[in-house]
Amino acid sequence: MSELLDLHPAPADVHRLVIEGLSRTPKQLPAWFLYDAEGSRLFDRICEQPEYSLTVTETALLERQAAAIATALGRGTLVEFGAGSARKVSPLLAALECAGLEPAYVALDISAEHLSAACGRLQQRHPTVPILGICCDYSELDALPDHPLLSGTAHLGFFPGSSLGNFTMIEAERLLTQFRRLLGPGGKLLIGIDQPKPVQRLEAAYNDAAGFSAAFAHNLLTRLNRDLAGTFELERFRYEARWIAEASHIEMALVADQAQTVHVAGHDWRFGAGERLITETSAKYGPDDFLALAAKAGWRGAGRWSDPAEDLSLHLLVQADSDA
Ligand code: AVJ
Repeated sequence: MSELLDLHPAPADVHRLVIEGLSRTPKQLPAWFLYDAEGSRLFDRICEQPEYSLTVTETALLERQAAAIATALGRGTLVEFGAGSARKVSPLLAALECAGLEPAYVALDISAEHLSAACGRLQQRHPTVPILGICCDYSELDALPDHPLLSGTAHLGFFPGSSLGNFTMIEAERLLTQFRRLLGPGGKLLIGIDQPKPVQRLEAAYNDAAGFSAAFAHNLLTRLNRDLAGTFELERFRYEARWIAEASHIEMALVADQAQTVHVAGHDWRFGAGERLITETSAKYGPDDFLALAAKAGWRGAGRWSDPAEDLSLHLLVQADSDA
């Protein structure tokens, strides 16, 4: 049986964060607000859309290169940050087992429900791999908790899905530094990073024809209306995803169709005609740019695997001061 450890992460102060986000110019809310139960369901649908190839490409890459990646990772406990439903780790665990590297797996996630379901499912597939779920906010941890699966000092981090893209450069550097601290001296990190590609492809990936990207963004307004007594009228905000070349990111926004005032979180908020509420940004890094960012956080590239079209990379990072 897989085991669950609950560190009881403090709930975020959503009310305060909404006031902060709507007071900014441009207005922008934290990307993780998108993921309530309905938002998580819509995101899973986005991942199935033909225009959004990231998930399919990364899954195929992990399956195809699992043996090579396992050899490069070596022995240790695999620690996934923000594991969610932990749907990507299976080929890696299988390859590590197959190579006789006796892996253990630790999933970190903020949602205890997701964790227990995901760990239970994985344990069935990998009956002899020790599996532990830790319910926590990994960005707030000083160290991984004491546990037999985490008794060594050098752990193997796993951060797939190009989730780093949702962070600004400064935040991304801070997060990579946090991972380095949590994984310990000699730790390694396998991270999936989506790469720049032609603008039409990028914009289509974030505005699929079936409308799931738009529904995902609009659901944020539904959430604000429900949780913070908001008065957003969904049809008065048009969804748009555009590539901002200077920032090398996709900006996803809801654009007010005309001037209006919305009440939410106890305040009135004025929107001008055409004013944007940024729901999230998604940065893309070419291999060199990503390694330059990782270097600022004390990591060095030790391997990279990509799909034939060079859409996405799996980078293996080792700590800059190690000779592994
Ligand atoms: C989960 C941040 C990787 O940026 O591609 C996809 C989120 N939002 N479509 C991404 C997302 C709308 C996704 N990440």
